[in-house]
Amino acid sequence: MGWRNLADDLGVDRLGELTQLDRIVDPVRAVVQRAAKPPAVKDFLHGTWAGHPLHPALAQLTVGAWVGAAVLDLLRPGRDGSAAASTALVATGVASAVPTAAAGLVDWAELHEDQQRIGLVHAAINVGALTLYSASLVARLRGRHQVGRQIAYAGVALGGVGAMIGGHLSFRWAAGVNHNEHVFHVLDGGWHDIGRFDELDDGKPSRREIGEVALVALRRRDRVDVLVDRCSHLSGPLHEGALSTVNGVTCLVCPWHDSAFAVDDGSVQRGPATAPQPRFEVRVLGGVVQVRGPLRASS
Ligand code: FES
Repeated sequence: MGWRNLADDLGVDRLGELTQLDRIVDPVRAVVQRAAKPPAVKDFLHGTWAGHPLHPALAQLTVGAWVGAAVLDLLRPGRDGSAAASTALVATGVASAVPTAAAGLVDWAELHEDQQRIGLVHAAINVGALTLYSASLVARLRGRHQVGRQIAYAGVALGGVGAMIGGHLSFRWAAGVNHNEHVFHVLDGGWHDIGRFDELDDGKPSRREIGEVALVALRRRDRVDVLVDRCSHLSGPLHEGALSTVNGVTCLVCPWHDSAFAVDDGSVQRGPATAPQPRFEVRVLGGVVQVRGPLRASS
């Protein structure tokens, strides 16, 4: 008999099938996309500059502050200035929840539809937790610490459910993770033929393969650059994307959510992707294009 697990028992995956949620998902997504239109704001909130999503890093601050307050409330209720300390922690969590939510919403707006349904439930539960913690903060600031503690216990329980669904969205549904890490573990690091140089159209991305790994090759005059074809954001096919100049760099633009990767080194020039696109060393021998790799961004 196989193992059961909490996420399956609670039916978290079924949230992704609830098309009724689209009545809320669609207008919320439109509002988020309109609000985060400036590319600099969007990329900052995605965490493109950090090399991984900003939302989970900020969530640590929010959840950590609230859990810290809960521990103080439980172990030292009202003693030795702990009321002031837990009030400060609750306030820190409430204040940090705003940028945490903003980063999460911007990421959420660029997910697949079923992921967005799960993400909507995650967000709604967290809004509930934030509301409870805000009420707890007001009660504490008015000197009603016992009431504040009780409301916060409900908040930490609700926030725990929200965090569990958020974790499930990342680790089971692969939202926010690098979709190309596996290629470093399935290729042997040797040279591989990917076709003849004169078969590549100048300036037009074309799909090639090494075993199960799809590549995108781009010839520009005498030069050929080769990247992994599946976008690191959510596996969009880069060979169907367009060439564009972003930040003064020639980029391949993903046809799904518009991430832009520098053709010559795979670096992210525009999100929502945060992980660079793995690239390959290229040589042409006897008119045949050969590649070796993939190479990590730091190599
Ligand atoms: S799959 Fe989302 S930007 Fe490529």
